[in-house]
Formats: sequence, C-alpha cells, structure tokens
Amino acid sequence: MQLDLGPQPVQGAQAMRALGRRLARQLHAGDVLALVGDLGAGKTTLVRGLCTALGVAADDVSSPTFALCNVYQGTSLQIAHMDLYRLESADDLAAAGLDEWLAAPDALCLIEWPEVARPVLPPTTLWLELTTVGNGRVVVQRQR
Ligand SMILES: Nc1ncnc2c1ncn2[C@@H]1O[C@H](COP(=O)(O)OP(=O)(O)O)[C@@H](O)[C@H]1O
Ligand SMILES: [Mg+2]
Repeated sequence: MQLDLGPQPVQGAQAMRALGRRLARQLHAGDVLALVGDLGAGKTTLVRGLCTALGVAADDVSSPTFALCNVYQGTSLQIAHMDLYRLESADDLAAAGLDEWLAAPDALCLIEWPEVARPVLPPTTLWLELTTVGNGRVVVQRQR
C-alpha cells in the first residue's frame, strides 16, 4: 500500500503530529507500521499524532523505550506502540509480546526501532524512514 505522506519536509513537531493524523486516516486494524529513524527523528511524535486521531489522549502516548510496548485503547481499535531499541536479538521479541500483537486482528502495531524484528514482520508491513534534514524531517516510505 502506498501511503500519502503529505508535504515534505515536515517542519516542526506540530507538522509531524499532523502527518500522524493523516496516516491514521489511511491505516486499519491489523496493519503494522515500522518507523525507522535515528534518535530524535520524530518517531514518537508521529505516533502521538496518529494515536490522538484514533481517540487516544495525547498525554497517554509516551515512548515505550523501557516498557518495550505500550498499549492504548482507541475509539475503535487497540494500538500496540513498541520500541525495540533495547532488544539485542529476535530471540527477545517475545518479551515485547510482538507475536501476539501481530496476530491480533483488531490491533494496530506501531513499531519504533523495528530492524531487529524484520525477519518476523509480515510482508505487508508498511515501512517509513524518518531523516533529520536541517530543522525539519523528511519522511519517506520504503519497500521494506
Ligand atoms: N518534523 C519535525 N521537525 C522538527 N522537530 C521535530 C519534528 N518531529 C519531531 N521533532 C522534535 O524532535 C524531538 C525528538 O522527537 P521524538 O518523536 O521523541 O523522536 P524519536 O522518537 O524518533 O526519538 C522532539 O523534541 C520533537 O518535538
Ligand atoms: Mg521514540
């Protein structure tokens, strides 16, 4: 699926949240969105915008760096927000509950630092790459 990512570059956190809201209109339960990008690239900011558009309070959305997985209840679906930065190998993925969330038909999976999970992510996974350019960010879709 080709995503509409809107105007680029994305200048400022507010515009990044707006991109998240734009993506929320294009995603459905069962989708997996992998967010590739360095620390500070705006992954969590994008997730915050996306989740608020689905009925989650903005304050509830936080980086799951230590929890591995935060679960939010949206208006019509559950959102599993994962951050796999601290995982060293695919063997540790069970700790994040990744398999269960990938199999959950009524959940949307949003994954920061997804590379370690690449072998187990479905071929339908939507890959976005976020890159810092000057004061803004460029967001592109990659074919895995
Ligand atoms: N498009 C953007 N332009 C400028 N700053 C941004 C943009 N998106 C996010 N930021 C800022 O970058 C910082 C890191 O954002 P964050 O979402 O935590 O990154 P990540 O989760 O990728 O580490 C925050 O201060 C955030 O406000
Ligand atoms: Mg983050």
